[in-house]
Amino acid sequence: MANFIDIAPLSKRLGAEITNVDLSSELDSETVDEIKKAWKKYIVLLFRSQSLTNQQYVNFSKNLGVLDEAPLDKDGKMMVDGFPELLIVSNIEENGTAVGSLGNLECEWHTDMSYNPKPPMGSCLYAIEVPDEGGNTGFLNMERAYETLPADLKETLAGKRIKHDATHNSAGQMRQGMTKPEDVTKSPGAYHPIIRTHPETGRKSLFLGRRPNAYIESFSSSESEFLLDRIWSHITQSQFIWEHKWRKGDVLLWDNRNAMHRRDPFDNIKRRYMHRTQISGDSPF
Ligand SMILES: [Fe+2]
Repeated sequence: MANFIDIAPLSKRLGAEITNVDLSSELDSETVDEIKKAWKKYIVLLFRSQSLTNQQYVNFSKNLGVLDEAPLDKDGKMMVDGFPELLIVSNIEENGTAVGSLGNLECEWHTDMSYNPKPPMGSCLYAIEVPDEGGNTGFLNMERAYETLPADLKETLAGKRIKHDATHNSAGQMRQGMTKPEDVTKSPGAYHPIIRTHPETGRKSLFLGRRPNAYIESFSSSESEFLLDRIWSHITQSQFIWEHKWRKGDVLLWDNRNAMHRRDPFDNIKRRYMHRTQISGDSPF
């Protein structure tokens, strides 16, 4: 069978670069199938030096599944006029108003929108302006993290659910209409299996969402905190992590079901501007 794409792995943990695909063109079904196969295998895919209109970026993203609509801005308008699927991630302000979300802040390890009952299966970022340093994005292979978990922890967590906090965003900012949780056993957020199965590959991974305000059901809050501290000190080892340094024109696609990500802060006098699309997903099991 002919190869339609060239794949170069980026690390032993996860990630691969696809080197010969122009995402501005309409992709044939064989190319899309190979991209999907590579995505399943490597969890994170990088396409460098892309130059895309909003429509071309949305068209590429639609090859991967049904797209979620981005939240509206505080005035109830689309972030990118005419493109309800595009979310702006940026620190840029115009007339004193932020044009996008997350500013220049550090974003701790998280899974996108996992406080919803049906979190997106994947996310894709297109880098339109990037600072010369800072703002790197790290990825964590949650399948490896699960496989290597101490046996007693695996046993303790089997069949348990964890709450994914809805009160704060990944930059630690309070979401609209939320208050700081007084009691993690009662605060808002969806419960999901803490060990989830990838619906396409059947592989298991840890599904944690994020650390702050998480809670493992059926334990007291202090027991849950103790377990979570043990889990997090295991998963955040460098052996599970790969970090991406952005260049303008990068398109980075990740599987939200078996990878977590984080972002370094960056100097706020520098401009960073990206468009994100999200591929919708089902209830984790
Ligand atoms: Fe994110």
